[in-house]
Amino acid sequence: MSRKRLAVLISGRGSNLQALIDAARAQDYPAEIALVVSNLANAPGLGLAEGAGIETEVIDHRAFGKGAAGKEAFEAALAAAVDARRIDYLCLAGFMRLLSAAFVGRFDGRILNIHPSLLPAFKGLNVHEAMLAAGVKVAGCTVHFVTAGMDEGPIIGQAAVAVLPNDTADALAQRILAEEHKLYPTCVKLLCEGRARLEGGRVIFETVSGAGPPLHNPRA
Ligand code: GRF
Repeated sequence: MSRKRLAVLISGRGSNLQALIDAARAQDYPAEIALVVSNLANAPGLGLAEGAGIETEVIDHRAFGKGAAGKEAFEAALAAAVDARRIDYLCLAGFMRLLSAAFVGRFDGRILNIHPSLLPAFKGLNVHEAMLAAGVKVAGCTVHFVTAGMDEGPIIGQAAVAVLPNDTADALAQRILAEEHKLYPTCVKLLCEGRARLEGGRVIFETVSGAGPPLHNPRA
């Protein structure tokens, strides 16, 4: 089976990128990272990619100007970079730009994102603080297909994390991040092996044994 080609899009630290790099080192992993794109030249994650010998490209959104025309030009450059490397899936990993409906439509069913909450609860930023403020007892993370809405789209997998008494946002974020690092490579694997697929706006899983219930949570 030929390995699927991934582009990982980042804006910062890149710990989820590193988790995907580590997973893809296994010979039987069904995907390879063919490109890492950052919209910020100083994103620490770029160094992780370079250290792993992965091609990187900086596409600085600010260089394309403001407004709708600037966003369109930025996304055209992004699409060209992806097309040039014959990418199968785009994995957003801390990529801090909202993609337009036009871009998402162009790569329909081929863009994934990881978010540090159990979507559809707690979209957006500062989610760990928001979860503690709301007093939720179960937090977690979600890998989903990207649609035009922010932190929306068909869910591929989720992992739950208990909120502890006296938790801080930082401590909770760290425990969720540890789950993110397992969940993202697992979901990418299921997708690239054809064991999860998008159908009618939902993610359908192959049964593992051929008979049992569908694998709703890849971590289960
Ligand atoms: C992660 O928490 C991810 O869920 C969110 O942004 C953060 C990125 O962290 N979308 P990193 O750059 O992968 O370390």
